[in-house]
Amino acid sequence: MIKILFVCLGNICRSPLAEGIFKKIIVENKLENKFSVDSAGTSDYHIGEDPDPRTFETARKYDISLESKGRQFNTEDFDKFDYIIVMDESNYEDVIALSRDDEDRNKVRFMRDFDPEMKEINVPDPYFGEKDGFREVYEILERSCKKFLKSLKNEYNL
Ligand code: 4NP
Repeated sequence: MIKILFVCLGNICRSPLAEGIFKKIIVENKLENKFSVDSAGTSDYHIGEDPDPRTFETARKYDISLESKGRQFNTEDFDKFDYIIVMDESNYEDVIALSRDDEDRNKVRFMRDFDPEMKEINVPDPYFGEKDGFREVYEILERSCKKFLKSLKNEYNL
């Protein structure tokens, strides 16, 4: 089992959408039994909450189902997951601050390191912006998740 955790700030916009997109892609590739996928936020702002209504609306448009309830990233997640995929530099700093050693730190990657059209390293935070921001985030996440799965398929001979 390859265990993947997507991380953003609130766990109600970007990381639940990344989780839903990645889950859909692994089903399309008939690889769902090889992966366990979850998401978390670095903050405690939205613990126990459903994703933002705009996240739901975007997901519905692209036939993505969302299962996550807001939860906060914690040090034990380094033991539970093989890959910790962060959305931006601020998430990266917050996650690294909780790491204990190089083994923990080596699990942390930027989502946009997998974006074939990467112009900058951050997946923009759509929470305070216009609704159009969610579409842009969706497109970034879809491209990046596809490429991420492709690199995992190569690495694990799937
Ligand atoms: P997310 O977006 O990190 O993509 O879930 C945000 C959600 C909530 C807040 C900020 C960003 N907030 O400040 O409450």
